[in-house]
Amino acid sequence: MTQTLTPRRPQPDGSAIDAMQALLADDLAAVESLLVARAASPVAMIPDMSGYIVSAGGKRLRPMVTLAAAHAAGGANTATHALATAVEYIHTATLLHDDVVDDSDLRRGKRAAKHLWGNSGSILVGDFLFARAFTLMVETGSLDILDILSHASTVIAEGEVRQLAAQGRLDLPTEDYLAIIEAKTAALFEAAARAGALSGGGESLADPLAAYGKNLGLAFQIVDDALDYGGTTAVIGKAVGDDFREGKLTMPVIIARRRGSEEEKAFWDRAMNVETQQESDLARAIHLIRATGAAEATVAEAKAYASLAKQTLNALPASAYRDMLDTLADFCVSRVS
Ligand code: IPE
Ligand code: IPE
Ligand code: MG
Ligand code: MG
Repeated sequence: MTQTLTPRRPQPDGSAIDAMQALLADDLAAVESLLVARAASPVAMIPDMSGYIVSAGGKRLRPMVTLAAAHAAGGANTATHALATAVEYIHTATLLHDDVVDDSDLRRGKRAAKHLWGNSGSILVGDFLFARAFTLMVETGSLDILDILSHASTVIAEGEVRQLAAQGRLDLPTEDYLAIIEAKTAALFEAAARAGALSGGGESLADPLAAYGKNLGLAFQIVDDALDYGGTTAVIGKAVGDDFREGKLTMPVIIARRRGSEEEKAFWDRAMNVETQQESDLARAIHLIRATGAAEATVAEAKAYASLAKQTLNALPASAYRDMLDTLADFCVSRVS
């Protein structure tokens, strides 16, 4: 099959992703076709907005995890393609919702969909994609897969609400931060890997692959949170400092604040409060995150989770797909280190 994949924005370690895409080329082409085809609707705003965000690229990490897990556990089939599409739809739905909740302007290097279709449109088309994901899951014919992804969807929503409820908590404990990211991000990676293993016919590998997905997801979100202060718009396709402007406590800030002097703590407490934050505060926040070593410590935490993810792969028989999952864990941390 020689279908062209959706063009991606360049990634810092493009070669690693390119190699993975090459190995999964036929499967990914099938998923890309489904992503477009299954967003069809007589209501034009639905395919228009879905096409806009889907064709903007995105790394397709979660469907890659599903496909590689299925292959590593026995093999991918048409049900795996429906499953991987459902996983990416759930992710896309959360992005449409997330940019409204976070009031973010940029997504995948383009203006967030809410700027073109409004907040209501973004929420409602997100709901459509969520619902369509469930149709696709039913098409896999597996109640286990339905169970795994419906559970993950509940946990993601809980994570987002938990994060909302924690807003303004300047002394957010690291455990609470980890519980939030485990729910809002790692749960989908975990489900993508577990369901992938089942669709590949490798039930005995479902637990190690799920553990891989969870640890990969934790590493991935910690890196994403580091990039919010240390990255560039060109690489992340989002505005730098979004978390800061929102007053969202993430690992770099938690560590920098904990390590800061009394004066620095007072700075964080004023700056992380959206009511008292000033325009120039982001530059100082970035400086303090570097100067206190919080940036480095955050990357070290991400590396530790990536390394846990890699360790769980030892339970799998050797294959090119196991190697790919290993490389994917390296790729996630290479985005920041
Ligand atoms: C963004 O995820 C949301 C987070 C969990 C940080 P990705 O960085 O995987 O988004 P795309 O799909 O590549 O745009
Ligand atoms: C992503 O969370 C949304 C979900 C995982 C549900 P964030 O708000 O942290 O991610 P970005 O930075 O907007 O991509
Ligand atoms: Mg968010
Ligand atoms: Mg966001």
